[in-house]
Amino acid sequence: MTDKKIIISYTEYDNTGELSAQDRILAEAAVKATRNAYTPYSHFNVGAAIRLSNGEIVTGANQENMAYPSGLCAERTAMFHASAQYPDAAMEALALAAVKNGELCPVPATPCGACRQVMAEYQDRGNRPMEIIMVGSEKIWKFSRVDDILPFIFDSLK
Ligand code: THU
Repeated sequence: MTDKKIIISYTEYDNTGELSAQDRILAEAAVKATRNAYTPYSHFNVGAAIRLSNGEIVTGANQENMAYPSGLCAERTAMFHASAQYPDAAMEALALAAVKNGELCPVPATPCGACRQVMAEYQDRGNRPMEIIMVGSEKIWKFSRVDDILPFIFDSLK
């Protein structure tokens, strides 16, 4: 028997001013994209912005539906849009932000498990690490690759 341990590293920033110029632009695009959320049921508005290897920034926002499971998270909305528009571009970085009660959440919102699995597959398809930037008003967390937020990624069909 062997006990094993996984250690995850990430960087915490206090505000967007501490980010690199390109990450700041992406973080601001994610915050702006929250305005396009359609959330009559949760009133929880999430925005996502993806920087592609071709220089494009693609955004998404959560879209809800009266039949609840038919809605989709901001991150998957953005990733599916990016892949459908630019299938050959790798996703270099994805930023997300959430607004609750009209305010950017102070602690960053973290992506759901289903979105992490979809991130993992596009990271693999792009053949390079996808950085994940979670933007809050008081803290920003940056992860270097999807593996850091989804240990034991399902990839058994490979
Ligand atoms: N949501 C996202 O858009 N992204 C996440 O990572 C977590 C949750 C959305 C789904 C739903 O519209 C609302 O937030 C409440 O769960």
